[in-house]
Formats: sequence, structure tokens, C-alpha cells
Amino acid sequence: MKPFTVSDYRQLARKNLPKFLFEYIDGGSCNEITLAKNLHALSEISLRQRVLKQDVSEIDLTANFLGKEYSMPTVLGPVALAGMFARRGEVHAARAAENKNIPFCLSTVGVCPAKEVSESIQVPPWFQLYIIRDRTFMKDLLQHIRELGIDVLVLTVDMAVPGLRYRDYHSGLTGAPGTCGQLRRLLQATGKPKWAWDVGIMGQPHHLGNVAPVLKGKTGLEDFLRWMSDNFDASITWKDLDFIRENWDGKILIKGILDPEDASEANKFGADGIVVSNHGGRQLDGVPSATDSLKEIASQFGDKMTIFADGGVRSGLDVYKMLACGANGVFLGRAWAYALAARGQCGVENVLETIKNELKVTMALSGVKNIHEINESCILKDNF
Ligand SMILES: Cc1cc2nc3c(=O)[nH]c(=O)nc-3n(C[C@H](O)[C@H](O)[C@H](O)COP(=O)(O)O)c2cc1C
Repeated sequence: MKPFTVSDYRQLARKNLPKFLFEYIDGGSCNEITLAKNLHALSEISLRQRVLKQDVSEIDLTANFLGKEYSMPTVLGPVALAGMFARRGEVHAARAAENKNIPFCLSTVGVCPAKEVSESIQVPPWFQLYIIRDRTFMKDLLQHIRELGIDVLVLTVDMAVPGLRYRDYHSGLTGAPGTCGQLRRLLQATGKPKWAWDVGIMGQPHHLGNVAPVLKGKTGLEDFLRWMSDNFDASITWKDLDFIRENWDGKILIKGILDPEDASEANKFGADGIVVSNHGGRQLDGVPSATDSLKEIASQFGDKMTIFADGGVRSGLDVYKMLACGANGVFLGRAWAYALAARGQCGVENVLETIKNELKVTMALSGVKNIHEINESCILKDNF
């Protein structure tokens, strides 16, 4: 079967990847309640079908955010370790995004470094930053990415500590010493010879490219994961973000906002925008769906900052629903990660084409001609 929808790509990703990598993408934290809520909240929104309202023979999906024009209101959001899902995965995802004229946001903990990604495309990517204890390293990193021409920084603030992702314990990705994680991962990889050759061997080096300088030659997966949990800075508060301001003169989006009080702080800080997000249900389990939080936050701050949102978006219909709930743009996470794992750059381009087409059809059947016409009047009142 030719993969087409995000769900097709998910099945194919499961088939292609060693178990520990598929579970890493697919899973959430603790009981995965928030992961389920994200999907459920979007599925519960009822759209208004509008007929004969206006001529919908020409639909315009063009979106403008942060001063640039894109082909549709979506962003390939930051996904760690994408270079383990496909050979030099971040480069291929960035190329797919560029070919489809949408932004690609590189994760701090991507496999391919910012330089490699930037040099493979014409327009610089966005860069997602986790706050790291070593401020000298952070300062150098900010300067480095600015020199590469990157001008949008996505500062992720919902990772004071990594969430408890039990699927990663069960799969052997993380765990206590003595749980034979390395051996289990090796066995899983040998069961996927195509991946083992294409990504495991030919896709090297598997460093976390952007943080390689501080890893001092350590290259094992456990070294990376230990470094992440040891070096993410749980002590920071809003006032510490002045450090970022002093060292970054580009645009700043704050990602991981779920509460209106935090949105207010982000606004006071002077962020250009926020990403309403619960990290795809991978951090604090039990919090509301991103869509539910979005409605409240967008109604209070929609005229003050650019509002992006993510969590559970698996189709163009979902993108439409997020826009109707007040987002100016929508980040994709697992949707592109599955496609990358399934069919590399071609998979990501294909899934973006599917999402674009779904969005277009949804708009036509809702009597909407361009994305600026999508607002809360496009969904039934009960949903608001
Ligand atoms: C495998 C994986 C890795 C992720 N890595 C990062 C990351 O490095 N930085 C970040 O800010 N968010 C990261 N996220 C969260 C995504 O950017 C996004 O918020 C989330 O995936 C949205 O939910 P969805 O995948 O259900 O659409 C990751 C998500 C996944 C699935």
C-alpha cells in the first residue's frame, strides 16, 4: 500500500524502525493521558459546513508569519534525534520543508548540526533552544547560529526536567544501569537490517551535532541522554531569560506555554510569539490538551503576539481546527517524524502535500477562501 496519510506513515515507521526508536517518537509521558487528550480534543471539534456562501473555486493557503510568506500555515517543529529516524534526517526534513516553502525548526538535540542543515538549504532554518547550564556554551551556540543566518529562536521552556516516558524504559532506550539497554537496542536494530545499514551505519556520525563540543568525544546514546538530563537547567526563571535577550538579536518564540499566566509572562518578556504546547504529551501528564489551552490563550493574547500551537495534529483538518481555535500557525511533530522514518525526504514532502490538500478541501467545504477567514465562527459554538 502506498503511504498517504499520517496514519499510513505511522504504520510504515513502525515497520522500518527498531522498536526503541518507534516508541521514542510515538510515546508520551506516564499514563499518556495528555497524549490522548491532544488527539481527542481535536477529534471532538465540530466544524461548520457552509454552502454557497462564496466562490470557493480558488483557495489561498498562503500564510505570513514573523515577516515572511509561506505556502501554508504549518512549521516542521523541533524533533530531537531525527537523524536516527532516517539517514541525516534533519537535512532531509529541512530540504522537504524548503521545497514545500514552510519553515523547518532544528532541535538543539538534533543529530545533524546547525551548520550541516543550514548549508544544505537556501533559507536558514529556525533553531530550537533548550536552556543549558553552561552559559558560555549557550552564548557561543547563539553566536554560531546567528552567524549561520538563523534569525528565529524557538526557546523551549517546558523541559525543566525530562518527562517520565515509560515506553522508553520498556524499549531499552533509557533505564537504570544493568537493564542491558545497549544490548537490547542492538538486537532490535539487527531485526531491521535496512535501517541498520542505511541509518545505523551509513548515517553516521550519530553525534548530537549542536552539543558535540561539550560531549568531549562521548558518542554513545546513553552519554547523550545522560548529558541531556544533567545539563538542562531546572533553575531558570523568567528573569534569567534576560541572558537570552542580551545574546540574541533575532526573533524569539517561547515554546511550551499552556497557561494564560505564562502567556502573559511571555508577552511581558517581549516574545515575538509563543507556541501553545504540552510537548506532544511528553512532559507533564494530565495537563489539558493543547487545543483547549489554545482557545483561552488566543482569546487573551491573539492580538499581542503571534500564536503557534501544536499537539495531536495529524491532518489538514486538524490544522484548520487549530487555526479556528486562534492559532496563526501550527507546528507539526510526530506527523513529519513518522513520514521521515518511513520514506525520508520524499515521505515528508508527500505528507506535507497530503496535509495541504486536506486543508484546502476543508476550507472549500467550509466556505472559506483564505486562511485569514478561519476563526472561531468556523466551528460550532459548543466547542468554544
Ligand atoms: C520524537 C519527538 C522529539 C521531540 N523533540 C523535541 C525537541 O527536541 N524540542 C522541542 O521543543 N520539542 C520536541 N518535541 C515536541 C514537538 O516539537 C511538538 O511539540 C510535539 O511533537 C507536538 O505534538 P504531536 O507530535 O502530537 O503533533 C518532540 C516530539 C517528538 C515526538
